[in-house]
Amino acid sequence: METRAVYPGSFDPVTNGHIDLIQRSSALFDKLIVAILRNTEKTPLFTVPEREEMLEHAVRGLKNVSVTSFAGLLVDYAEQIGASVIVRGIRAVSDYEYELQMALMNRRLSSRVETVFMLPAESYSFLSSKLVKEVAQLGGSIHGFVPADVEQRLRGKLRVKQE
Ligand code: PNS
Repeated sequence: METRAVYPGSFDPVTNGHIDLIQRSSALFDKLIVAILRNTEKTPLFTVPEREEMLEHAVRGLKNVSVTSFAGLLVDYAEQIGASVIVRGIRAVSDYEYELQMALMNRRLSSRVETVFMLPAESYSFLSSKLVKEVAQLGGSIHGFVPADVEQRLRGKLRVKQE
């Protein structure tokens, strides 16, 4: 039977760390669905369609990967799309506590969906969307942290914000 996995997140914006994890996961599962959370509480820098576009561009070479968005409970969404696995990345021990809490809550909510923790390449272990945005905002180089099109979009977005 085909194993479908969902890789949820904010992806505001997608980083090379996310892409590394997507590549690793796509090699493990038959189908990987990258799912952007439509969160009304957070104020993201990029809209959901913008984030979707950047992700789609990043995964264009991976045939078994698709990009979508979701709202509501992740486990409900996973069941709805027939995913039996939730993929989450763990960069350092500091990520573990929050991820453990989420994984156990999700397990309590649905016993049909299993969380799998993946490790990104060591070279991306310090990378986060939040830090990339901060560095870009303060005029630092984000080259190598995000794909070139994301770098360009970030610069454009921040220029507009500053004007
Ligand atoms: O990239 P992020 O912001 O760390 O991703 C967090 C995400 C989207 C995985 C998490 O907030 C989530 O699953 N939200 C959906 C709502 C939900 O199911 N909440 C209960 C999770 S225990």
